[in-house]
Amino acid sequence: MKENQGTTTSSQRTSNQANSLAGGAPLRAPARGMGAVAARPAILRVVIRPARPDDLEEATLVERRVWGRLGASLNELQRRLFALPEAFLLAELQRPGQAPQIVGLTNGLLWTRDFPRSYLEYERILPSASHNPRGDVLYLASVGVDPSLRARGIGLHLIQEAIEVGRRRHLKQVRLIANSRARSLYERAGFATVRPLPRLFRQHRDLMPQPVLMELQLV
Ligand SMILES: CC(C)(COP(=O)(O)OP(=O)(O)OC[C@H]1O[C@@H](n2cnc3c(N)ncnc32)[C@H](O)[C@@H]1OP(=O)(O)O)[C@@H](O)C(=O)NCCC(=O)NCCS
Repeated sequence: MKENQGTTTSSQRTSNQANSLAGGAPLRAPARGMGAVAARPAILRVVIRPARPDDLEEATLVERRVWGRLGASLNELQRRLFALPEAFLLAELQRPGQAPQIVGLTNGLLWTRDFPRSYLEYERILPSASHNPRGDVLYLASVGVDPSLRARGIGLHLIQEAIEVGRRRHLKQVRLIANSRARSLYERAGFATVRPLPRLFRQHRDLMPQPVLMELQLV
């Protein structure tokens, strides 16, 4: 069994820049089969924090592991960080004696409420190019967690921190495009489905099955 499997716990908040998972509450352990061999639980400390420019090469590798051919390039991530640094969030795994490791990310950009007029228009542009500083909607792009560390609550905490960014900026909504696998996760975070987007990501249904627009009202 790999070191990062087993029961996970979070640690206390470390600073106002970095938020450790659940403020100290235990994270869900991944589901195990009945016949699984019990192993000594590993303690994982995962901190959610804003990205810095020197994180982006590693973040690009996580993007690629999560999204394959749809993964954002280093250049695109640099543009997203420049657009709205406080909403470019990383999940960082911290283990004693080891270098911290980026294991998840999401990046928020600002949209006006009438953007995009058509979601086909959205697919033709890079998310960084959709950023509009006058917007009051936080659009979350690239919600992803390293496949080896899923189902431990990291994704939920990334989203919750992103929602907090939206609240702190007094934005009106948080919006994202969900696939059918992630819908229940976003519902847990408070999002509601607005409508299906059946013509979006037609070439990428393996990565984005049954895309839907989801929104969370902040005010
Ligand atoms: C979505 C994702 C970020 C969730 O990360 P996570 O740390 O596993 O999330 P949590 O542990 O907080 O929550 C688990 C939930 O994630 C969702 N999920 C599980 N596997 C998933 C997958 N392969 N793809 C998308 N969502 C998934 C489910 O809703 C699950 O809840 P459930 O256990 O009730 O079914 C992660 O699965 C991922 O990177 N998936 C691939 C990229 C993607 O689809 N992103 C969402 C874009 S819409």
